[in-house]
Amino acid sequence: MVATSVFLISLLSFAAASPAARSNFVVHEKRDAVPSSFTKVGPAPSSATINLRIGLFSNNFPGLEKTLYAVSTPGSELYGQHLTLEEAKAFMEPTTESLNTVNAWLDSNGLTATVASPYGEWLTVNVPVSKANEMLDANFETFTHIETGKQIVRTLAYSLPADLLPHIEAIHPTTAFGRPLSASRPIVTASDRPAFNATISSDAVPASCASTVTPACLQAMYGIPTTLATQKTNSIAVAGFIDQFAQTKDLTTFLARFRTDLSSSTTFALRTFDGGSNPQAAGDAGIEANLDIQYTVGVASSVPVTFVSGGNDFSDGALDGFLDIINNLSELATVPQVLTTSYGEDEPDQTAATATKLCNAYAAYGARGGSILFASGDGGVAGGQSQSCTNFIAAFPAGCPFLTAVGSVSGIPPSETAASFSSGGFSEVFTQPSYQTTAVQTYLTALGSTNAGKFNPAGRAYPDVSTQGVLDQKCNRESLLPGVLEGVSGTSCSSPTFASVIGLVNDRLIAAGKPPLGFLNPFLYANPAIFNDVTLGHNTGCNTNGFSARAGWDPVTGLGTPNFAAILAAALAL
Ligand SMILES: *[C@@H]1O[C@H](CO)[C@@H](O)[C@H](O)[C@H]1NC(C)=O
Ligand SMILES: *[C@@H]1O[C@H](CO)[C@@H](O)[C@H](O)[C@H]1NC(C)=O
Repeated sequence: MVATSVFLISLLSFAAASPAARSNFVVHEKRDAVPSSFTKVGPAPSSATINLRIGLFSNNFPGLEKTLYAVSTPGSELYGQHLTLEEAKAFMEPTTESLNTVNAWLDSNGLTATVASPYGEWLTVNVPVSKANEMLDANFETFTHIETGKQIVRTLAYSLPADLLPHIEAIHPTTAFGRPLSASRPIVTASDRPAFNATISSDAVPASCASTVTPACLQAMYGIPTTLATQKTNSIAVAGFIDQFAQTKDLTTFLARFRTDLSSSTTFALRTFDGGSNPQAAGDAGIEANLDIQYTVGVASSVPVTFVSGGNDFSDGALDGFLDIINNLSELATVPQVLTTSYGEDEPDQTAATATKLCNAYAAYGARGGSILFASGDGGVAGGQSQSCTNFIAAFPAGCPFLTAVGSVSGIPPSETAASFSSGGFSEVFTQPSYQTTAVQTYLTALGSTNAGKFNPAGRAYPDVSTQGVLDQKCNRESLLPGVLEGVSGTSCSSPTFASVIGLVNDRLIAAGKPPLGFLNPFLYANPAIFNDVTLGHNTGCNTNGFSARAGWDPVTGLGTPNFAAILAAALAL
């Protein structure tokens, strides 16, 4: 379970433990200053309890990573030979020595941990603040997120006894300051729809798609088939957080309007974690959840879709939710072949250790045959959300090399144009994976000294791909008249669409007796011609014109938008 997000503020003074006992402590993670979006309130009440997640080193993560690339890289002898849960666990689980050492340390502090992940690399334990301060040589304090007023308990640094350093990789919550998740999708009115003088070169694309993008437009632009999927073992999982609920009634209305060829009973399954639910009262429909469900169920033509709903407001930030959902799905014998998530944060708010631990879980998911897709973020080069900045801010977890980050465009192929909000750039935490080196270096050479010093050219670069970023959806919120459709914008539109493309390709692969695509990136970067290259437009942020789209990969639109027939042909040839 995640930590309680809001702690009562108390004026109890913080009793520092004796520094003498700390001589063998080594600082494990620290942050130089409170992030600018937070203010410090004061010491955390010593009576409060923190649910600490302790991430132990996997016994052989390099082995898992090597296997991931072996099963995901076209041409490799092991291509498509995905791991079972037990095989992944053999790499991901901690050593017995790590487990014993950490449990002995907890025991000596009067604590007993619970195993909190299917591979056993995460433990959780409830610890009073006073005890956490003592055993981690920390100073847990209460901080307020300025914009929302939500409070979290964090420390600016913590230490570990030296003998635990080879065993503990990360502890959360400590120095990671995620912002409370919010999902206020911008509503696009008719007047602020992008005014594109689109050249409609294909008769197949209706003229209306220049301003109003519906499933029919996506099908026409990207060649996405309307033929029904046939494989019932295939699935797309859609992540749901912060009480964003997906409404079946709105989905039915949406399908009746836009997919008259689908059965009116077409719907989605529900899986929950952390006590999640999916209530269906009129006021419960969430713009984000409805969008994500309508553009998976409504585009993936009978590929089974599961809404995976978390029961926590994640006001502690998204990290807890991301860890919980991936751990929940990873306990399945067969993981959903696609997981799409339209939530994110900023990389600098995380810690390198916890970001790495989450990213490693995505590597294991990929090795087991699942594709992890994330919306790249809506703040251009200013991170997941628009904000003031001097240097570019990477989005999180888009910078993880083991997932596929999806950016946004608008307009019609071949004149699709990068959306200015489409987050893209370079991670400061993760180094550039070899599958993208050639594509990224070509871009950097053309870029020259533009934006030099504002980003890390050696970092993992994203997004990987893009699709339309302004769509029409049905969300029967109380503020809207029944039956009214509205436009929404953001990379949240793009990840579900790309998930549908991959879900449909997997359907055909499974029908042909082949494995699903799993971790996509080595396949995608090896086949740039399966995308419509986007060469127009740029993103924005930090008072710059961000990065420009250009021929080949770029950090706004990635490799481009999908050409379904080409992707399917390349996939079937694997
Ligand atoms: C569309 O064309 C009109 C007339 O040529 C021009 O004034 C306008 O700026 C163009 N809009 C865009 C978005 O290119
Ligand atoms: C994981 O998912 C299953 C199925 O929805 C649920 O029963 C279980 O409680 C979940 N685990 C957690 C930790 O939420």
